Amino acid sequence: MTKNFYFITLALLLSKNTPAHGQAPIVAAEQEVLSSLRASINSDTLPKHVAIIMDGNGRWAMQRGKERLFGHKSAMHSVREAVEGCAELNIPYLTLYAFSIENWDRPPDEVAGMMDLIATTIDGELTELAENKVKLSFVGDLQRLPTKCQRAIQKALEATEKNQGLHLTIALSYSGRWDLTEASKALIQAVQERRLGIHEITPKVFQQFLPTRTTPDIDLLVRTSGEQRTSGFMPWQAIYAELLFSAVFWPDFRKKHFYEAILAYQKRYRRFGKVAP
Ligand code: FPP
Repeated sequence: MTKNFYFITLALLLSKNTPAHGQAPIVAAEQEVLSSLRASINSDTLPKHVAIIMDGNGRWAMQRGKERLFGHKSAMHSVREAVEGCAELNIPYLTLYAFSIENWDRPPDEVAGMMDLIATTIDGELTELAENKVKLSFVGDLQRLPTKCQRAIQKALEATEKNQGLHLTIALSYSGRWDLTEASKALIQAVQERRLGIHEITPKVFQQFLPTRTTPDIDLLVRTSGEQRTSGFMPWQAIYAELLFSAVFWPDFRKKHFYEAILAYQKRYRRFGKVAP
């Protein structure tokens, strides 16, 4: 993983870390701040699973007099920073909320543009992600996605299924209510077919029926853009998540913000409903 981290860092410095859409390049002073933040992170108390509700792309674009889609496109740099941040710190799970079921009701042009972006991003980033041992998963009502997205997803799943590095889950066409409804349907079917007795249903058993069953509990849930709600994101896994609301719009989210979120998490006192020892 260390070797991979250096590879990612070097590759970003040499190529992708060029200023996106007029943003300033990383200068030495910023690099120093970043190193100092990184050094303050305690590697013994890292979250195992970080989830991010990437919000504020539309407002970020409109502030610049641009179409909302410009915000989504500009946000890819932030996605890379979050993925790289997790890989560097050896955080094993990262889940990104990329498209909700409610997002289908946005203007058709925006939805079409987002679908193009999702398909091209998965295709375009796949080689580098696979080389860096990232394992990709996708969760949501994926049948609703256009064929180009479904093909890109299939290819990504096959190319990364054996990888042992960061487990990156992308929630697409997802909603928490959909997740729980699908679990309930599968559970009822199991009871009807007598594969499961009603008294055998416990939280642990219920979890096995969730479409998100392979995703562990979320330790840290970040939402950008100043909005303070979870919008039904992974309600089962987020039940004891530490919530962190950042005022930064997602396209402005950088590794510095990621490190700050981890440091804020490390200051929280998690009791999981118990009392202090
Ligand atoms: C929220 O901003 C952002 C989204 C709904 C989409 C985010 C999706 C991406 C960045 C694409 C990610 C793709 C992959 C494959 C990782 P908003 O449009 O709701 O912003 P607003 O609240 O300012 O209107």
